[in-house]
Amino acid sequence: MSEVNTTQTGQDPTAKGSGNAATAAFQNHIYKSDTSKERANEIYTDLLKAIADVAHKHQVTYDEYRVLKDWMIKVGEYGEWPLWLDVFVEHEIEEINYNRHDYTGTKGSIEGPYYVPDAPELPWKTTMPMRESDKQSEQLIFKGQVTDIDGNGLGGATVELWHADEEGYYSQYAPGIPEWNLRGTIVTNENGEYEITTVKPAPYMIPHDGPTGWFIASYGGHPWRPAHLHLRVKQPGFREITTQLYFRGGDYVDNDVATAVKPELILDPTPGESGLDEVTYNFALDKS
Ligand code: DHB
Ligand code: FE
Repeated sequence: MSEVNTTQTGQDPTAKGSGNAATAAFQNHIYKSDTSKERANEIYTDLLKAIADVAHKHQVTYDEYRVLKDWMIKVGEYGEWPLWLDVFVEHEIEEINYNRHDYTGTKGSIEGPYYVPDAPELPWKTTMPMRESDKQSEQLIFKGQVTDIDGNGLGGATVELWHADEEGYYSQYAPGIPEWNLRGTIVTNENGEYEITTVKPAPYMIPHDGPTGWFIASYGGHPWRPAHLHLRVKQPGFREITTQLYFRGGDYVDNDVATAVKPELILDPTPGESGLDEVTYNFALDKS
């Protein structure tokens, strides 16, 4: 048996388990912003006005107000603020901050709640760490090159890859999965190339047995994200990219609960010589 990590999550893959693990991981850091009092005043004034406008527009009842208050308390109890915010808000923040610059390199997308820094380093041509059971899932060869925006290869760039298994679980956020399963930091060769064999991920259902799930059910929505790979690509002197890649024609590509799909981020795998599906995707990094 390989080593298992159940320290953060308890025994069951529940919303409360993954939520509290995501909150604990997020709170490992100290966050600061240099927002001035003037800017804070403008933002809060507009935010409170937006809330007031919605309350008046929909003539919100006291029953509804109390349900909202109870729900917000429960989101905290279940540790689900990272989940709820990353599904419903992060994509707006990501888009605003991409558009503030005149970037032309590869588009970003949301980080989501399940990134873990410092995943073990792997060579440019590698197979992701996986369990015997993951080896039974459909495999994918994901390859390409990290370049600057003129197409020059960036040797020694790092490609951090993390994704869910075939059941939709992320290591360190569900019990019984080895710590670094389907997580790694791949270092490109001298031409900036990488070639990674991994499990082809499946569509992912955000935890639905907690307050984020109740929220979605209350308006008749669905809790699914399309199958996706998470990536963070870095090279000193260049803009770091946090992004996701999706699979053309896959379920929920057109209907992602987290609104994080962009047309430039959709892969088209085809059967390769090895018998496995293969796909090439190149990352172009803007200068920082
Ligand atoms: C959530 C999970 C993800 O894997 C992701 O990419 C985005 C959001 C979530 O559960 O909130
Ligand atoms: Fe994800």
